[in-house]
Amino acid sequence: MRVLVTGAAGKTGQAVIRELVKRNTAVRALVRRDAQIERAKSIGAAEVMLGDMLDTAVWQQATQNIDAIYHICPNMHPEEVAIGQMAMVAAKQNGVRHFVYHSVLHPHI
Ligand SMILES: NC(=O)c1ccc[n+]([C@@H]2O[C@H](COP(=O)([O-])OP(=O)(O)OC[C@H]3O[C@@H](n4cnc5c(N)ncnc54)[C@H](OP(=O)(O)O)[C@@H]3O)[C@@H](O)[C@H]2O)c1
Repeated sequence: MRVLVTGAAGKTGQAVIRELVKRNTAVRALVRRDAQIERAKSIGAAEVMLGDMLDTAVWQQATQNIDAIYHICPNMHPEEVAIGQMAMVAAKQNGVRHFVYHSVLHPHI
């Protein structure tokens, strides 16, 4: 099983990666900055991909050859809905069967 974790360098992302790795799940971590790559590897991500969640091409690449997505949108991001839509379109196009959406969007609204 290979899982894409977005927001992977954040507080929540790191906690999710650690728990998935404990369960012998291979993680592809999506991070935004070069400086976050080594950190994601050090906590056990099998692969680290660099990219901005606002970029459709990033979603296309990130969703290749994975079984599931654990999508952690950045906290209170103004484009949270658009980002989620890009993620879902790419997931469907690439045959990803499981999608977990981690957010506090609705409670804040
Ligand atoms: N932490 C909690 O206790 C908690 C509890 C409940 C729910 N949540 C929810 O979980 C989600 C994440 O929270 P968090 O506390 O883990 O946030 P966080 O520590 O701020 O992490 C967010 C991560 O997303 C990255 N990011 C921001 N904009 C991006 C973009 N456009 N493309 C790619 N990556 C981007 C950030 O990278 P940079 O470092 O480059 O900015 C950072 O690594 C939020 O929706 C939050 O509401 C968190």
